[in-house]
Amino acid sequence: LGTPVLTGKRVLISAGGTKEAIDPVRYIANRSSGKMGYALAQAAVQAGAQVDLVSTVQLPAPMFTNVIAVETADQMLAAMQAHFEQADIVIMAAAVADYRVANPANQKIKKDPDQKGLTLNLVENPDILAQLGAKKTHQYLVGFAAETQNLLEHAQAKLIKKQADLLIANDVSNHDIAFGSDNNEVTLLSKNDAPKHLPLTDKLTLSHQILEIIAAQMEE
Ligand code: PMT
Repeated sequence: LGTPVLTGKRVLISAGGTKEAIDPVRYIANRSSGKMGYALAQAAVQAGAQVDLVSTVQLPAPMFTNVIAVETADQMLAAMQAHFEQADIVIMAAAVADYRVANPANQKIKKDPDQKGLTLNLVENPDILAQLGAKKTHQYLVGFAAETQNLLEHAQAKLIKKQADLLIANDVSNHDIAFGSDNNEVTLLSKNDAPKHLPLTDKLTLSHQILEIIAAQMEE
């Protein structure tokens, strides 16, 4: 572990779930803890890389990591774009909300005694990975696919549609891994190589394995 396979490389990573405001006190979120993105950041630093980490959570940052704090998908897109050009490897480990509230309220929404329910109008968020995929030049672009069914089929579709070099398929129906857990188990999909399964282990060990595979693919 910690072999300097990324010396001289710059790695841009996103971590955590985006938060989309409903009003000043409430938001739409998801179950991402940010642990996978932070483990990748730590492994990348240990492998000799310079790391920019765009994050929605406040976890202890790995040493020498440039952390850019964001909340929403729009803010994450802007931060990723700002650091994209100088990056050699870009990893979207964040769980980005596909939709946000169309018109977040300026004041706290009060309960209306005459209404039994409340309807929120949602609009589509930008697809950050797809936008980066469309404009990438020299970058090696990596996405995750969080799926609850037909894992590899959906991940393969995302690899192609979002123009990524590598898609890391994550079975989030298994509550012992992925969201919030210290451990994970994934399958790596790329255009040229056969799917590669990385068995259950802690997220830091897994991150080292992922980065070694990326470094090897970049050499090809
Ligand atoms: O944070 P942890 O608790 O450690 O959990 C890790 C994880 C399960 C969150 C992580 O490993 C993971 O799977 N991240 C991707 C979650 C996700 O949003 O997957 P998706 O299948 O919805 O999206 C596919 C890819 O497109 C992802 O790389 C995602 O970052 C990206 N995306 C999705 C939607 C969007 N609007 N913009 C994006 O860039």
